[in-house]
Amino acid sequence: MSKKITKICCIGAGYVGGPTMAVIAQKCPEITVTVVDINEKRIAAWNDTDLSRLPVYEPGLDRVVEEARGRNLFFSTDVDKAIDEAEMIFISVNTPTKTYGKGKGMAADLKFIELCARQIARVAKDDKIVVEKSTLPVRTAQALKSILHNTGNGVHFDILSNPEFLAEGTAIEDLHAPDRVLIGGEDKGAIEALVQVYAGWVPRENILTTNVWSSELSKLTANAFLAQRVSSINALSELCEKTGADVNEVARAIGTDSRIGPKFLKASVGFGGSCFQKDILNLVYIAKSYGLHEVADYWEQVILMNDHQKRRFADNIVTTLYNTVSGKKIAFLGWAFKKDTNDTRESAAIYVADHLLSEQAEIVVYDPKVPAEQVYADLDYLNTRSEDENRRLVTVINDPYEATKEAHAIAVLTEWDEFKTYDWDRVYNNMLKPSFVFDGRAILDKESLEAVGFDVYTIGIGDGTMR
Ligand code: UDX
Ligand code: UDX
Ligand code: ADP
Repeated sequence: MSKKITKICCIGAGYVGGPTMAVIAQKCPEITVTVVDINEKRIAAWNDTDLSRLPVYEPGLDRVVEEARGRNLFFSTDVDKAIDEAEMIFISVNTPTKTYGKGKGMAADLKFIELCARQIARVAKDDKIVVEKSTLPVRTAQALKSILHNTGNGVHFDILSNPEFLAEGTAIEDLHAPDRVLIGGEDKGAIEALVQVYAGWVPRENILTTNVWSSELSKLTANAFLAQRVSSINALSELCEKTGADVNEVARAIGTDSRIGPKFLKASVGFGGSCFQKDILNLVYIAKSYGLHEVADYWEQVILMNDHQKRRFADNIVTTLYNTVSGKKIAFLGWAFKKDTNDTRESAAIYVADHLLSEQAEIVVYDPKVPAEQVYADLDYLNTRSEDENRRLVTVINDPYEATKEAHAIAVLTEWDEFKTYDWDRVYNNMLKPSFVFDGRAILDKESLEAVGFDVYTIGIGDGTMR
């Protein structure tokens, strides 16, 4: 018989830890869930009575937090206390790509994970189940085990891998009805204890259990396959533009083959987000470290294609605007890496902006959920030019009509639904002529915009007329 869990602690109150724990607390009122983070500002925002100020924007998250917070869901900076009291500890801290030393630009930086493990080892006085929630390279559990099992204080730790598959923007839906929950581990009792938590709302047949290494590798593989689909359709988008095909028609045609399936075939200016690039780089690094160079090269191509897609989108803007954008105003609609999130990590918009700024363009950004300081932080992080210059060349405006006023061109970088509802006549009348639209998400209706007077480029759509 496995022990019934009544106290959970989650270290890391970010995009994964916050929503996941909120849903566990909502669905399992008998379990007390405490989410801790060293970032005081973030914890204060999770505790804000004004639910519109939660640090993570996700449709439906506010209602879940409202229901559970103060009842059995708590946010705190007292990491030691939460570790001490919990029977099960989720590690949900960030694992960015290393920016220094061996594996720089490729390997995952595990220093935050290791710090957590050391803290757990120091604080714990009774047996704990430690759950890896963050995406981790295969065999991280080994490192956790060796730190936790050598404390010499007689405390026993079981280590489980339980990767999270939620996508941002649909996190609450994904958590409420996951395609599957994956739990990898060695100890049957520990696995069963975590199965019991999810069984509170997930059908048993959707809870898969594997060995710990399969679980770790499945997470990297799932993200690599998803990213590969986007790079595959994006590779075809360029060919469509040349041949007069329409990538959306091609996607529909192939997607009806049940072996291929219709999802994740939307051509775009390039995938972003905190996971895809990081996880593939990590997969490539791991493959290389085992001497599997063909495997590494195969997956690396997914990233190279994505870089190419962002670059060619920016280059096309420059070429179309008569080979120069110097001093020209380009209005960006969208900065987030996808719609319905305020997250901008690895967003294609950042790289497209960077290319255009190097061509001396002036950029005005409008995004319904991303604040100005985030836009500047993203550009400053690239270190391509001075912070002053980023502020001189980039303006962030909270109103789409103001943002597009007197612009030479509009570039659509995120697929926010509201962009489709604008008064495009009004936008056109306030722009410089000729007025260009570069739709990097293929969300606007090309023909109706052309009827308004715009010159429209849509990703993946060639000139289909017979000559
Ligand atoms: C394929 C397409 O499936 C079909 O739609 C098209 O009209 C013609 O090409 P075919 O070549 O007859 O059909 O067989 P298919 O079942 O696709 O298998 C092709 C090869 O892939 C075989 O060697 C098969 O063994 C291999 N394969 C297929 C795998 O190795 N793994 C798989 O999961 C699927
Ligand atoms: C992804 C995985 O989907 C999720 O399972 C995992 O847990 C974390 O990584 P996320 O990055 O939040 O989730 O969003 P996702 O919907 O996968 O989109 C990633 C990027 O691909 C976005 O920039 C999106 O715009 C782009 N994309 C996605 C496309 O360009 N075309 C598509 O068809 C799908
Ligand atoms: P993810 O998308 O994986 O959730 P985030 O960066 O949004 O990543 O969240 C990770 C969180 O983990 C951050 O808020 C960070 O402050 C927190 N964190 C990192 N290391 C520690 C630690 N040792 N103790 C507590 N919190 C930590």
